[in-house]
Amino acid sequence: MRILVVDDEERFARLTAEHLKAAGYEAEVRTSGAEGVAALEAGGFDAVLTDLKMLPVDGMAVLEAGIAAGAGVMMMTAYGDVQTAVDAMRRGAADFITKPFDSAQLLARLERLDEQLQLRRENFALRRELAAGERLGAMVGSSPALKEVQELVARVAPSEATVLVLGESGTGKELVAREIHRRSRRADRPFVVVHAAAVPESLLESELFGYEKGAFTGAAARKAGRVESADGGTLFLDEIGEISGAFQVKLLRFLQERTFNRVGGTATLKVDTRIVAATNRDLQAEARAGRFREDLYYRLSVFPITVPPLRERKADIRPLAAHVLRRLGYGRELPAPVLELLRGHDWPGNVRELENVLERALILSGGGDIGTEHIQLPERAAGARDMTRVGPRNGIVSQAGSLADAERELVADALRRAGGNKSKAARSLGITRRVLYNKLHKLGMDGDED
Ligand SMILES: Nc1ncnc2c1ncn2[C@@H]1O[C@H](COP(=O)(O)OP(=O)(O)OP(=O)(O)O)[C@@H](O)[C@H]1O
Ligand SMILES: [Mg+2]
Repeated sequence: MRILVVDDEERFARLTAEHLKAAGYEAEVRTSGAEGVAALEAGGFDAVLTDLKMLPVDGMAVLEAGIAAGAGVMMMTAYGDVQTAVDAMRRGAADFITKPFDSAQLLARLERLDEQLQLRRENFALRRELAAGERLGAMVGSSPALKEVQELVARVAPSEATVLVLGESGTGKELVAREIHRRSRRADRPFVVVHAAAVPESLLESELFGYEKGAFTGAAARKAGRVESADGGTLFLDEIGEISGAFQVKLLRFLQERTFNRVGGTATLKVDTRIVAATNRDLQAEARAGRFREDLYYRLSVFPITVPPLRERKADIRPLAAHVLRRLGYGRELPAPVLELLRGHDWPGNVRELENVLERALILSGGGDIGTEHIQLPERAAGARDMTRVGPRNGIVSQAGSLADAERELVADALRRAGGNKSKAARSLGITRRVLYNKLHKLGMDGDED
């Protein structure tokens, strides 16, 4: 911490500065208010310790210059001048200390000031991060396909319509849901997420609708459900395609009437919440096949928005890559061969896969420029496999073939990296365990991993 000491009693100022230096601070002395102000305007000080009564320029002027320079200001006041000190605090001084004081007292106060400054810096950083996060929330991309999604979002957001967001895993469905909320009149109310596939079926009802005391063993007190938390706001029902038939009935009632009962409760409760649902399944086909209630499907699909897979909007790859890398602190442009490589890939894991590939590339490049050698796509991973010692059970042979092959490759790779731990593998793929299990089944892989 670099401290400026301002006092027109020169000997006192120098002595104070000596104490500060002995304690490990950097300190400089100015012996008039005017010089003090000039030094602060020149910049470079974290804190100012200033006398109050000086002529012609007094401590209040130094205080103001200190605040303007973003420094923490501590006033030194004579005994009996507390009132002025309080005024100074009101004007933004961080603290005051009454003369005479010994160096131990001063150092203790400075330590506290340092902590305050630290906090202020952290708050500042946090605010900056939040501001960045807000920009980050926007949907990046310039393809006509994404523009269309953005237009649909803009059109439906201000209404109260239920929205069904469709699209493969990792395409940005949750981002679309958040954007709808953000652009609605409910924006300052909660956005509540329920991941239907992550909550065990048996708990889904109480999670969503809450329960009364004594509704079941362990229900020691009444608990409000997620729909109540979403009152006035938006309820995002993620992975809606995964819920059981029994629960579909309960959800249908809620969607039709916006009323519900807590588990074990008799009172009918009502909430005002907007519903946005999402699924990576073809819900219409599910409904036709009888696996999803048709009436519920029609309720949900009042306004469907389909987010196309990344391979169908490759124009988005470049802006997305730039966006992801900037967020990771890499501000440079990717060289053309890298972009070409990225555009050549099929991206079965969509934007989330792109994020993972770039994150890995950044790690592999060790902070240097990212080159094609740092981009590990499934096909290339297959070639590099012998060198990375992934164990004997790599039964899947890489072939740049169908989407299912690519997906199989990706899943196998994730499982290997996770040492066979399915939860971990699911997390790295950005999907839930349940979705992973479904995938393993669909890809015919549920036998060959432990
Ligand atoms: N257009 C976009 N601009 C910026 N980031 C995006 C965009 N689309 C997706 N992302 C990012 O990609 C990741 C995956 O997005 P999101 O979680 O919304 O996908 P999802 O469709 O809900 O996937 P899943 O079905 O696996 O849940 C997130 O980190 C998200 O921020
Ligand atoms: Mg999602």
